[in-house]
Amino acid sequence: MDSIYLIGFMGSGKTTIANHLAKKLRLPVQDTDKMVESYYQMKIKHIFEKYGEATFRMYEQNMLSRSKKENCIVSTGGGIIETQENVDMLKSYQTIFLQTSWEVIVDRLKEDKDRPIWNNQQRDKLALLHKRTDNYMEASSFIVNTDGKTSTQIVDEIITLIK
Ligand code: S3P
Repeated sequence: MDSIYLIGFMGSGKTTIANHLAKKLRLPVQDTDKMVESYYQMKIKHIFEKYGEATFRMYEQNMLSRSKKENCIVSTGGGIIETQENVDMLKSYQTIFLQTSWEVIVDRLKEDKDRPIWNNQQRDKLALLHKRTDNYMEASSFIVNTDGKTSTQIVDEIITLIK
């Protein structure tokens, strides 16, 4: 089976859904954020502080291209679609866009201290969500709206879509 890639904004539930989906389909999970941290031996927060976002994007792209293309659930970072190369890569995979409303995202991330972009007061995150939405759409084979749904419902929806 082709791997299933999950994309979406920070706080859209990619990690949770990936784990749930992997358990249900009995497949391993990869997470491009975790892959970056283990490959480059540095926390994402520190990569941003020390080298800046552009370097993180390079690392992230490298991990996306190294991810397992078969029999795996791959969860990605919210900015994975920032480059056209990544959008093109994702378009050639089985990619699901988890679409979540701004209100739900804000509520989920209200205590977050680890995400450099979310915690950067200079960044307009709502504008970023709007700007990224076209790319999420372009990169994905399917869109799943997550608002008001349990993870079981979302996972079942994904399974029906990919059949
Ligand atoms: C980012 C999202 C994060 C992580 C990094 C940058 C972004 O992943 O890759 O902090 O640009 O939206 P999550 O979507 O898992 O929070």
